[in-house]
Amino acid sequence: MGIFRVFFILISAFFGLWSIGCGDRSEVELPAYVPSVDEQLVTARNKGVVIYTELCSGCHGNKGTGGGTVPPLDGSEFVQGDPQRLALIVHKGVFGPIHVKGKRYFLDQMPGWEESLSAGRTAALLSYLRSSWSNGEALSTEDALVTRDEAGEWIEAAIDVEGPLRGDVYEGEEWRGLINGEQE
Ligand code: HEC
Repeated sequence: MGIFRVFFILISAFFGLWSIGCGDRSEVELPAYVPSVDEQLVTARNKGVVIYTELCSGCHGNKGTGGGTVPPLDGSEFVQGDPQRLALIVHKGVFGPIHVKGKRYFLDQMPGWEESLSAGRTAALLSYLRSSWSNGEALSTEDALVTRDEAGEWIEAAIDVEGPLRGDVYEGEEWRGLINGEQE
């Protein structure tokens, strides 16, 4: 019998405490759940790989190795460098000489993908590129992750830039001068 009594007391205690909790439920504000940087990157990568396969892997390869006249994304200075510049390249496109991993590419060109990339899709795609292959080893999780807000700001700033831009524009600092608000 003893065990049932203990059980009964525990159950009563539970419902007793629960009902106290219910009393002021309307006043209790639960803090909003904020996913960690790691969780945000996992979500972005799951979405980003689909976009990469849809738009990019046909030329740059499933593993970002490029080939022939198409430069690699694995280990690329442009993928690992300033993410705003990466967004600009992907949105506006590129032609003419561009140096990637010590090699000069100039025989081909890439159109801009802005029509296919909303802020959310851009953020997911860039996060995927920056955290994949050797890029994921070179960059920390924080550095690899591009948020939707960041991508949205960059897209907005670049709205009037007419692409594709020459490779050497991206290699120098000239691209910064093309962004809205910084034009002088
Ligand atoms: C039709 C083929 C093609 C497709 C599809 C394509 N690219 Fe490119 N991409 C190129 C070529 C060619 C270049 C180099 C152009 C030049 O020589 O100036 C390039 C250059 C780049 C560069 C700068 C150089 C480097 O290797 O880092 C980045 C970044 C890039 N592409 C990302 C992407 C992303 C992201 C997508 C998908 C949204 C994509 N590309 C889709 C052909 C393509």
